[in-house]
Amino acid sequence: MALLPLKELYLACLYCTKCDLHKTKTHMVFGEGNLRAKVMFVGEGPGKDEDLQGRPFVGRAGQLLNKMLEDVGLKREEVYIANVVKCRPPNNRVPLQSEVDACLPYLRNQVAIIAPKIIVCLGATAAKAIIDKNFKITAMRGQWFERKGVKIIATYHPAAILRDPEKLEPAMEDFKKIKEELDKLS
Ligand code: URA
Repeated sequence: MALLPLKELYLACLYCTKCDLHKTKTHMVFGEGNLRAKVMFVGEGPGKDEDLQGRPFVGRAGQLLNKMLEDVGLKREEVYIANVVKCRPPNNRVPLQSEVDACLPYLRNQVAIIAPKIIVCLGATAAKAIIDKNFKITAMRGQWFERKGVKIIATYHPAAILRDPEKLEPAMEDFKKIKEELDKLS
């Protein structure tokens, strides 16, 4: 896919029929944030609240994400937040590989526009799509990877932390690492 400017990319996502998820969605969730963000967070896909509001990470997992950002001195307004798939998988199931494959060019295009210095994969779905298809989140989170000069790291998904609060501490260690790396950039 040739790279599109932001508005055209948004419209391509809005009218996309490349997989079946568009048939069951309420709203496409494009992503939002600072278009000049140095760091981009990537989740799995919209949940119920995000599907209803058309915005990423606005439900319980989103509130936790906001708190984790704040706790390391980052504001949600200064980062960019997107997802691997832009339409909600029914019942919040993990997106199928075919759905990820269909949607990933949009995320790549978004990354090209935002041009972040750091990408944070929230959870295994994002890490598998962006870093390595065999990514193991427990074993490989908190490690830096690099692609085309962009630093990439994965940590636990906030929804996984809500299910298992023991994941919060290691995830906060990862968030501190991310903030330190960001501070080094500026
Ligand atoms: N979970 C995700 O992966 N993305 C969202 O936008 C919300 C919850």
